[in-house]
Amino acid sequence: MQNLWNLEKYNEVSSTNDVARERSLHTKENLVVVADIQYLGRGRRGNKWVSQRGNLFFSQLLATETINSNLTFVASLSLAETIKNISKIKNISLKWPNDVLIDMKKVAGILIEQADNGMIIIGIGVNLIAHPNEQETSYPSTDLSSNDINISREKLLSEYLSYFDKNYELCLKNFDIIRKKWLKFACGLNQKVKVKYKDTIKEGVFKGIDEQGLLLLQQDKDTIKISVAEMFF
Ligand code: BTN
Repeated sequence: MQNLWNLEKYNEVSSTNDVARERSLHTKENLVVVADIQYLGRGRRGNKWVSQRGNLFFSQLLATETINSNLTFVASLSLAETIKNISKIKNISLKWPNDVLIDMKKVAGILIEQADNGMIIIGIGVNLIAHPNEQETSYPSTDLSSNDINISREKLLSEYLSYFDKNYELCLKNFDIIRKKWLKFACGLNQKVKVKYKDTIKEGVFKGIDEQGLLLLQQDKDTIKISVAEMFF
């Protein structure tokens, strides 16, 4: 089954996730909210998402039974596949759980939320033509145009949605297919990493993700599973 997406375009919004949440009060249909300007863009862990004009900000409002964590991997994988397909670049990777990197610098982020009626909101920001400087974020950033990838917001969004639809269908059949495809893009696999988890830093070897998308961290002979955390190299 292909998802059908109604597209709603806005000029200026606080956050496309806010608009998607508000729209969930009035619709049960799959919807994409896209905006030119976002003045209160937010990221994961309460961070701000620096939303420079000309970049792509959108939110998918999705009626689904699929668990959020699986959708995180569907969305980040779809974005990585889209960028790889339009550019043929090889240095694109995914940092658990869902950052999209080029040359280890963040080019896109994903924030998944849930509306009161249970619909899922997948908010995505892609740095198309500009990226925040190092004072504005705690991590290095980049943008597509700095990597010689020139694509319109419309084209990027429509390419992404077709990858998303295919991967979503695969996910409904078997998340393991998505897990394996995601791992091909994963950065830091089998390397020593640090994981910030509930105010503690855990060190170990990143062994991949399990069937629920939990991070597998090997410490000596034990492998622990971690749900919400941030990974560093
Ligand atoms: C992150 O990496 O911390 C997630 C960033 C998510 C940013 C997007 S931009 C569109 C949507 N609206 C928001 O306010 N946030 C998401």
